[in-house]
Amino acid sequence: MIKNKPSLKEAQKRSASLINNIEDALYIPEAIVNFGNNKKYMVITYGCQANERDTENICGIIELLGYQKSEDENECDLILFNTCAIRENAEQKVFGKIGSLKKLKQTKPELIIGLCGCMAQEESTINKILSSYQHLDLVFGTHNINKLPSLILEALQAKEMVVDVLSIEGEVIENLPSIRANKNKAWVNIMYGCDKFCTYCIVPYTRGRQRSRLFDNILNEVNELVKDGYQEITLLGQNVNAYGKDLSTPSSFALLLEAVAQSGIPRLRFMTSHPWDFSDEMIAIIARYDNIMPFIHLPVQAGDNDILKIMNRLYKIEDYKLLFDKLKTCKKDDLGISMSTDIIVGFPNETEEQFQKTLALVDYCQFDNAFTFVYSPRNGTPAAAFDDNVSLDVKKERLARLNNKVNDCFLKQNQRFLNKNVKVLIDGYSKKNKDYMSGYSEHNKLVNLKAAESLIGKIVSVKITGVKSFSLEGELVE
Ligand code: 5AD
Ligand code: SF4
Repeated sequence: MIKNKPSLKEAQKRSASLINNIEDALYIPEAIVNFGNNKKYMVITYGCQANERDTENICGIIELLGYQKSEDENECDLILFNTCAIRENAEQKVFGKIGSLKKLKQTKPELIIGLCGCMAQEESTINKILSSYQHLDLVFGTHNINKLPSLILEALQAKEMVVDVLSIEGEVIENLPSIRANKNKAWVNIMYGCDKFCTYCIVPYTRGRQRSRLFDNILNEVNELVKDGYQEITLLGQNVNAYGKDLSTPSSFALLLEAVAQSGIPRLRFMTSHPWDFSDEMIAIIARYDNIMPFIHLPVQAGDNDILKIMNRLYKIEDYKLLFDKLKTCKKDDLGISMSTDIIVGFPNETEEQFQKTLALVDYCQFDNAFTFVYSPRNGTPAAAFDDNVSLDVKKERLARLNNKVNDCFLKQNQRFLNKNVKVLIDGYSKKNKDYMSGYSEHNKLVNLKAAESLIGKIVSVKITGVKSFSLEGELVE
């Protein structure tokens, strides 16, 4: 039953109307109340923090119906894939995993398998699913998570796959239930969607128009988290600097950041910032508040001005460097701010000389961390229609050269912490070695140390005794 299919053409529309703020959007049909009692579910999440946060809402809704979370897909009655469309390899992983569930579905026909998130918003994904993944029961998008109870009911009743994906600018939906994945660190959405339309990026189409949550609704959520003892909040948006510009009473990220910093939350982070809208007011607030962590993710994407222009990134590399330098030294912190970035190599027709400028930028910035990608054409984006004279082999070889360089930077940057005392919020046992605990420092460095289990969720002082490219080792300071 195809209720709504996505349309990239509809998804790229932007109007000037005010965004609807909906406080009460969850509806649970009588027939599905308690339906999940004695049933198990699992949500498999791919992609960015926006998806992680959506999964917390999806879990909140599913558990309201009575389902209980499980780690074992064989015992599940409901399995959802919350997916990412940013690059092709993210999508291939999802298709592989969905394919592997075909057998389970054959032996357990009452199992509901669903797909949601950014892939669901793509016409090409829906066509592929309809032709090759008929064992799926339900597909819904990023705009109608609040309809999940009705959609599960329809999937149970229908004899065929239910597809309900809206290609709309979107609304701001408040008050969805939520099961937070972490008791000490919380994601807080401050805005949804993106209007930047970088030419390579699918997000403005899958997530809709930029729309900010109301200032007071964000602060209420933050205050609840502080009351509940949370140690860290990360404010989330595709481009947090643009916060508030679309509200009927325009606001700004600087105002919001200051208000959240004053809430008493011990640690405050935010992501992602676009170099374009980063105001001096924001820098002043970051400098002023000790609980705003000395770590900023500032995607540069490329080091060459012509490539940046074709990417529609709106800034020149000289502007990026100026902003980078201002941020790096804006706090009274001997260790400087930690700076991370995203870089794409192999954008259509990128020359060796242009790629060299990306390497030169890395030499200049000496990033603390960098997420590096080979450009992946996304159906419906402007860049996907560009001719491209760079082979995949050349792109991969550029990525390898870039990775060598950024890895050297990470090690060099981490060395500045050797023999220094840093504050670490302990997350739990290290994933790699259960004899160790791990957590993140204020500068967002992963720190491994020996510590008692009772310190999970606490911020402790740690002396750094060892340094690697991707982590630090330390000892508790009594
Ligand atoms: N190909 C490769 N990388 C991409 N990103 C976004 N779109 C693409 C694409 N089509 C990267 C950008 C962005 C990060 C989240 O993913 O670097 O900042
Ligand atoms: Fe994509 Fe650019 Fe928006 Fe980031 S700012 S989500 S890269 S369009």
